Amino acid sequence: MRIAVAGATGRIGQLTVDVLEGAGHEVVPVSRKAGIDAYTGSGLDAALRGADAVIDSTSTASRDEPEIVDFFGTITRNLLAAGERAGVRHHVPLSIVGIDHNQRAAHYAGKREQERLVKAGPVPWTIVRATQFHDFAAMSAQWALRDGTATIAPLLVQPIAPADVAAVLAEIAVAAPLRATLDIAGPRTEDLVDMARRTFAARGQNVTLVPTWRGIFGLDMAGEVLLPGPGARLTPTTFDDWLAAGAR
Ligand SMILES: NC(=O)c1ccc[n+]([C@@H]2O[C@H](COP(=O)([O-])OP(=O)(O)OC[C@H]3O[C@@H](n4cnc5c(N)ncnc54)[C@H](OP(=O)(O)O)[C@@H]3O)[C@@H](O)[C@H]2O)c1
Repeated sequence: MRIAVAGATGRIGQLTVDVLEGAGHEVVPVSRKAGIDAYTGSGLDAALRGADAVIDSTSTASRDEPEIVDFFGTITRNLLAAGERAGVRHHVPLSIVGIDHNQRAAHYAGKREQERLVKAGPVPWTIVRATQFHDFAAMSAQWALRDGTATIAPLLVQPIAPADVAAVLAEIAVAAPLRATLDIAGPRTEDLVDMARRTFAARGQNVTLVPTWRGIFGLDMAGEVLLPGPGARLTPTTFDDWLAAGAR
């Protein structure tokens, strides 16, 4: 099959390209580094010509909610419109488990907009919602790092290995559209503070962690809101496996 991967140069996108190419599919990378801008639409029609499926693993590092909503909204509209013109038969965006509990996280507002547009859009779809990636704890602590100290919320998560996310995206994209949302998660629940502490130790980084609900994540993220639903598909790689493999 010919599959376009939007965000092909990103963390999940690169791994997804590798899985698809390893399985003998033809991959069209969509990213600005690949010369195609899904936000402005530049080069998109040519890229999607002849594509059977589109995987969307684009992302933005912005923390500004209107900017994030505009980013995911515009890219999704552009991918769906170009996909419809090209006769794409399956649109597969990567979203996040548990984003619909009215959390104030700015990134989640963008993901909700992306999901809304995909469900209302012209291309048959399957939304894959993943839990936090194994590197999420250290990444969110880095956002708050000041002079060797970082605040971090004690979130209850069921983290997933990036390589496992890529494997599921590749498998779903070549199958028939489900017009449904699939939750995917790693095999075990973990505490985000403990994950961050163990990741920094594995990487030899000396960071003092201060658990709090008054930092980047508040009490709207507490409890089980980030855990996968009952029908979730669980992937094999544990957080310990990922640490043992180098925590990268
Ligand atoms: N981190 C987590 O724990 C987690 C959990 C669940 C789901 N997710 C979701 O997973 C998705 C992928 O995350 P990631 O960490 O793999 O992202 P990432 O490494 O930041 O990669 C983002 C990708 O988007 C591309 N991109 C950005 N602007 C673009 C544009 N205008 N046109 C085309 N491509 C563009 C980038 O390529 P260029 O810069 O070359 O354009 C890059 O390839 C995100 O949507 C995120 O919400 C994340």
